[in-house]
Amino acid sequence: MTQLVDLQTYPIDRPQTEAYAALVADCRARLAVDGMFDLPGFMRPDMVEKAAKDVGPAMASESFRHARSHNIYFRDSVDGLSPDHPALAKVETVNHTLCADQLQDNPVIALYEWQPFVDFLAATMGKDALYPMEDPMARVNVQASRDGEALNWHFDRSEFTTTILLQAPQQGGELEYRKDLRSADDPNFDGVAAVLRGQDPMVRKIALRPGALNVFRGVNTLHRVVPVKGPVERLVAIFAFFDRPGVMMTAKEQQGFYGRSVAAA
Ligand SMILES: [Fe+2]
Repeated sequence: MTQLVDLQTYPIDRPQTEAYAALVADCRARLAVDGMFDLPGFMRPDMVEKAAKDVGPAMASESFRHARSHNIYFRDSVDGLSPDHPALAKVETVNHTLCADQLQDNPVIALYEWQPFVDFLAATMGKDALYPMEDPMARVNVQASRDGEALNWHFDRSEFTTTILLQAPQQGGELEYRKDLRSADDPNFDGVAAVLRGQDPMVRKIALRPGALNVFRGVNTLHRVVPVKGPVERLVAIFAFFDRPGVMMTAKEQQGFYGRSVAAA
């Protein structure tokens, strides 16, 4: 596994060491303060390059293109909001997705299944354990954004999102986010509207580098990927973990996310 991760800088295979404890403590502190942590060069450059190169042909020919006009809640109506409230303003999202069953020999699958990686992520999130999904499609996805495309403003359904950028575009593709925009008690619709109008000074932008591991607390942090510019695709690997084993999508969810469904493996 030494060939996948820079274990000199990030000793995630040595959980008994002080260096490991210090790394976990730093990640936890950054999650608390910034709502995310970002570990540059986590995946080794040759593996990142291989992962990006290996998805190329399949991304071009068999990825699922998802294009939608949506509000940030992905719902037609929201309790307590009139239909013309600016928090319900429509945005456009376009992306292209390859699923785990289309990524079989890709290094991102080996990383996903490597127990020290899973244990390290659980430690940074303050969880006793995390588990890979059973779902043959949703476990790991690679998403591409092409010239003019973006993953637009949204909150995540899961508390944490784990990604590794595999390829950066020439321009655009940064992650823009507004931490703690809402809470369990306060949906802050006017605050949401201000972000959508570009009028919130607390919006931050981070340019991720290929190979960087990014863990993001997206449930109350409104975020988007800035539209990509130029001929180079933005490629990102997305890893799905749960705090219980055996999680599957329903056939209906698979169909909705990926345009197809497969029987359980
Ligand atoms: Fe997200």
